[in-house]
Amino acid sequence: MVVANWKMNGTLVEARALASAVREKLRRARGVEVVLCPPFTALAAVAEVLAGSSIGLGAQNCHWEASGAYTGEVSPAMLAELGCRLVILGHSERRQHLGEGDALINRKLHAAVAHGLTPLLCVGETAEERRQGLTFHVVEGQLRGGLAGASRDGIVRCMLAYEPVWAIGTGVNATPAQGAEVHGSLRGILSELASKEVAQAVRILYGGSVKPENVAPLLEEPEIDGALVGGASLQADTFIEIVRKSAPRAGSAAKE
Ligand code: 13P
Repeated sequence: MVVANWKMNGTLVEARALASAVREKLRRARGVEVVLCPPFTALAAVAEVLAGSSIGLGAQNCHWEASGAYTGEVSPAMLAELGCRLVILGHSERRQHLGEGDALINRKLHAAVAHGLTPLLCVGETAEERRQGLTFHVVEGQLRGGLAGASRDGIVRCMLAYEPVWAIGTGVNATPAQGAEVHGSLRGILSELASKEVAQAVRILYGGSVKPENVAPLLEEPEIDGALVGGASLQADTFIEIVRKSAPRAGSAAKE
């Protein structure tokens, strides 16, 4: 699975053009589920462009209530109405710049599940935390905090993304071994919180400087189920190349 996080990029005109180009060029890529997450303002337009295709639509955030006096917020019910399939929650940029903590993210996660959206819960350590040997401790806290109170049925409807903060937008990706190690530990915690079957069923994506050149070795790791792509998802050709290289049995993606 490859999810594009466009972050706060794209006018309506640009978003339509990018989504159209992805739709057009992706026709022949098989075996990879693709979801585009544009900014809120472009969701309706991108939904129109993607209608009738197999490409999914996702959002980058949501509120925890279905409606109400929450100026400037967007509810999961509104996203579901637009045809969103998933919602990114707990992205490190929101944790860092908007002060989101695990308790708040947890409320959003429950709301997303209740409205039929798949939460894509992001976890990841900073460079300093990794240097101090706190990586597993940090991601475990974020995972347990984000999923608090979720039943086995709720957990199986979630997806996770391991996004080391030091790898986001830096050009320095985690190595496949570093990714696999953290993904494995997250799966172990899922086993404990739900069951071994649920842990195997929940997809865990890797994010952080994913590029056409590094995606195949990352996804060859059995623990890494897909990629969450930021910067490289803003160019249709680059994104398509990532999708092609993510196809099962790397290199066997449909050819032009
Ligand atoms: P980059 O791919 O730009 O490093 O961003 C990763 C990310 O934050 C995706 O959510």
